Amino acid sequence: MKKVKIHDKTFQLFIPYEKIRASIELMAEKMNKDLADKNPLFICVLNGSFMFAAELFKRIDLINSEISFVKLASYAGEHTTGNVKQLIGLNEKIEGRTVVVLEDIVDSGITIDNIQDQLKKLKPKEVSVATLLLKPDALIKEVELDYVGLEIPNDFIVGYGLDYDGYGRNLIDIYSVVNE
Ligand code: IMP
Ligand code: MG
Repeated sequence: MKKVKIHDKTFQLFIPYEKIRASIELMAEKMNKDLADKNPLFICVLNGSFMFAAELFKRIDLINSEISFVKLASYAGEHTTGNVKQLIGLNEKIEGRTVVVLEDIVDSGITIDNIQDQLKKLKPKEVSVATLLLKPDALIKEVELDYVGLEIPNDFIVGYGLDYDGYGRNLIDIYSVVNE
C-alpha cells in the first residue's frame, strides 16, 4: 500500500486518480446538459479546489461559460471574529447569472453555507454547488448540493488539491490519514 508522510502524520492511498477523474467526467457530462444555454459562471474556491476545477472545466463543452477564482479571507480590522469569512476576488457581476460554486470538499458544511449566503446577496439568478468530495457523516449544516463527485467516510484526507497544513496538494491521488 502506497504511503506518504506529511509533517507528523502518515497517509495511505485511498482514492486513485482514475476514480477521481471518472467521477469528474460524469459530473461534467451532467453539467453540459443542465447548463446548456445558461451562460454559467463557475466559481472555484481556492486553494483546495484548483485541481478539481481545472479537471472539470476542460470537460465543459459550453463555449459560453466563464470561470472565476475566489478565496475566503478572515475579516481584517477590529471586528475579526475568526469564524466569519469574506469572499474575496470576485470581480464579475453576479446579478442575474447562473452561478456554479466549485468546492473541493464539504465536511461540516459551514464553509459552503457561508459562501452560498454571500453569493445570494449579490442576486444571482440561481446558485448551484458542486463538490468533488462529501463527508456525509460530518455534515452539521443543511446544505443543498447539486453535484457530488464521491462520498467518503469521516477521515482526514490529502491530495488532489487538498492539504495538511500546506503540504500534500500536489499528490495526484487522494490519501487518507492512518490512525496510529
Ligand atoms: P467545512 O466548512 O467543515 O465543510 O469544511 C470545508 C473546508 O475544510 C474544505 O474546503 C477544506 O478546505 C477543509 N477540509 C475539510 N475536510 C478536509 C480534509 O479531510 N482534508 C483537507 N481539508 C479538509
Ligand atoms: Mg476548501
